[in-house]
Amino acid sequence: MRTFKNTNIKPLIVAVCLLTAVSCNNKNKKNTSSKTDNPYQEKVDSIIGLMTLEEKLGQLNLPATGPITTGSSKSTDVVKKIEDGKIGGLFNLGDPKNIYEVQKIAVEKSRLGIPLIFGMDVIHGFKTTFPIPLGLSCSWDMEMIEKTAQIAASEASANGINWTFSPMVDISRDPRWGRVSEGNGEDPYLGSEIARAMVRGYQKDDLTANNTLMSCVKHFALYGAPEAGRDYNTVDMSRIRMYNEYLPPYKAAVDEGVGSVMASFNEIDGIPATGNKWLLTDLLRDDWGFNGFVVSDYTGIYEMKAHGMGDAYAVTSLALKAGLDMDMAGDSPNIDAAYIKHLEGALEQGKIAMADIDTAVARVLTAKYQLGLFDDPYRYCNEERSKNETYTQKNRDFARLVGAESTVLLKNENQLLPLKKSGTVAVIGPLAKAGNNMPGTWSVSSDHDKAISVWDGLQQTVGENVNLLYAKGSNLDYDLELEKRATMFGKTIPRDGRTDKQLLDEALAIAKKSDVIVATIGESAEFSGESSSRTDIGIPQVQKDLLQALLKTGKPVVLVLFTGRPLTLVEENETVPAILNVWFPGSEAGLSISDVLFGDVNPSGKLTATFPRNVGQVPLFYNHKNTGRPLGNKEGKFEKFKTNYLDVRNEPLYPFGYGLSYTTFDYSNFNLDKTSIGMGGEISVSVDVTNSGNYDGKEVVQLYIRDVVGSVTRPVKELKGFKKVSIKKGETKTVTFNLSVEDLKFYNYDLDFVAEPGIFQVFVGTDSTTELMKEFELKNNKE
Ligand code: BGC
Repeated sequence: MRTFKNTNIKPLIVAVCLLTAVSCNNKNKKNTSSKTDNPYQEKVDSIIGLMTLEEKLGQLNLPATGPITTGSSKSTDVVKKIEDGKIGGLFNLGDPKNIYEVQKIAVEKSRLGIPLIFGMDVIHGFKTTFPIPLGLSCSWDMEMIEKTAQIAASEASANGINWTFSPMVDISRDPRWGRVSEGNGEDPYLGSEIARAMVRGYQKDDLTANNTLMSCVKHFALYGAPEAGRDYNTVDMSRIRMYNEYLPPYKAAVDEGVGSVMASFNEIDGIPATGNKWLLTDLLRDDWGFNGFVVSDYTGIYEMKAHGMGDAYAVTSLALKAGLDMDMAGDSPNIDAAYIKHLEGALEQGKIAMADIDTAVARVLTAKYQLGLFDDPYRYCNEERSKNETYTQKNRDFARLVGAESTVLLKNENQLLPLKKSGTVAVIGPLAKAGNNMPGTWSVSSDHDKAISVWDGLQQTVGENVNLLYAKGSNLDYDLELEKRATMFGKTIPRDGRTDKQLLDEALAIAKKSDVIVATIGESAEFSGESSSRTDIGIPQVQKDLLQALLKTGKPVVLVLFTGRPLTLVEENETVPAILNVWFPGSEAGLSISDVLFGDVNPSGKLTATFPRNVGQVPLFYNHKNTGRPLGNKEGKFEKFKTNYLDVRNEPLYPFGYGLSYTTFDYSNFNLDKTSIGMGGEISVSVDVTNSGNYDGKEVVQLYIRDVVGSVTRPVKELKGFKKVSIKKGETKTVTFNLSVEDLKFYNYDLDFVAEPGIFQVFVGTDSTTELMKEFELKNNKE
């Protein structure tokens, strides 16, 4: 494999490049999605003029790729289709040599030589794997998050990939839903900031560069709100909730110039997103100004048959007419509704027009121009870059840091943590040696077997000074069938053939020899992710039992908790002295965890999703409405005929924004520079934060507002700003926020984005329960 420059492009396409005014080298600057004219339009139109209907439909076809045989036997179905111009792109092809070979077939053997686009689920890293997105979001560090996307882009693009199905920005308030692990939690403001950071990181203002990827924001829209938390289930919500609470992160990605959008599986207002013209055209393109291309989710078009939207011709036309450009995974023998198979018939039946097809083809071709593929179809296949820039020590060191920064300290009684680098530590639990689970869910390109387990990480870091002992303690779950479902995709945790009692006895014997127990328990990687919804969101019972037995030894226990979702942890919170929620930290997991356990990194992660007390409280989120019957007491005591439960208090176990540090932070001198502003004004909010504990640390200072009276009901609190600041022990820093009228706006009953005059409360503090509050008035005058 080597890099090529312009040599193998078909003469027809070269002619198009030469004849049209804009250079094929034209850099695609940021704002691919803005309303600016398409600089490639002329070239794209010329190519479309040369295409047969079959070739046009080929550009809209993104088949699921099984193994493709190239090299000596270029004979698979897929290869033949590429030669015939019936494929526009491929995804999740792992091997860069293969990508190179396949591209060569498209460029040299198909009639028009149009290059393929190569997509992949590069979700939280490529080979170097960062924490699962929910974990990463807990870092609240936008620069760091952007850099993870940039590293992922640089590694993936060196290995043939030019398009990533990320970021996933679905707001979710339902931890039963397994894909809560892939998103950024429950808050639209934070979710929007992260969406922007990810798009910036992947696209870096220059899609033609060979080290950037085109980003695809997903799953548009509202996929994170399925009824009962069951994946792929119906979504039904009011427009006002959509606009204010669920749509902002997608819009933020569009504003940041994201090149593509993936339609979600769910329905919206009774019409599946895949065929929803209001969503994909009226809102996305006409209101938001997006002009990239839209891809379906995996067999999303075909699934509209099961949704009850009609036969193959009806659903393919519905999708095309709605503004869906590319059909993912429709082209399989068992999928009987696909653009490639049915749009010709739909055209004959008069359900669609040739112009509809041309519009979609133009968008796909434009993306290929934006990526520079017409200039050099092999620009993303670079053996040298692949060797030198993938999974480098530098990238891995960064992943180690990110893993530590995403960790959330949930409890630390009597300063049990950090541990001393001496004595005997018993590492007990089924996840202690499960290195292959550390990258977490949706890590398709990760080398799972190379990821560093807790056990290996501790050996490498403190192994010389600390006497480390190990016992498995239990299997993952009592239920073998559930365990199998939760250890798929090569992320096996081999079931120990011994009885539960034998495993426990061994663990207790090891525990007795130790000074402190590190219990490595929780979910395995595939307990969360796609099609991994749960109704019981506790730690699997066998591990809960193990933990309680370990506590009975009287030794101090640190719970190192693995999870892809908020869990119910009431029992653990009551009984375990220290709980470190590490999510799935990525390829360097064991090192990241050791750094935090032994105090080389002071944890600063803050939850981005509420941890409920029990599953019956779900959906539970901080930015809820007050209702007409709010509770009258802060202690959470039951009150008849008020909004509460008979059997559990309303508050979560751990609220949004919560996370401890090894040090403590005190807030003082909270100040607003004005008591009122006009419609063009801005208010400066400042607060002094003092590190009053014994360690240097980082604090995520959070700012919330409450719009006290509105033309529609407003949330009790809304995040509107945050700053992550490093503060040395004993030091005080003044943290300042500027709150503009833009920050006070919301979508009203008519869906106009407005700020309404009246009193606003401003809160600052360490998490969403803060009561540090001041008020100001927004007045109806200009200044
Ligand atoms: C998922 C998407 C993913 C796609 C391609 C689908 O099942 O919902 O998030 O990008 O597969 O792998």
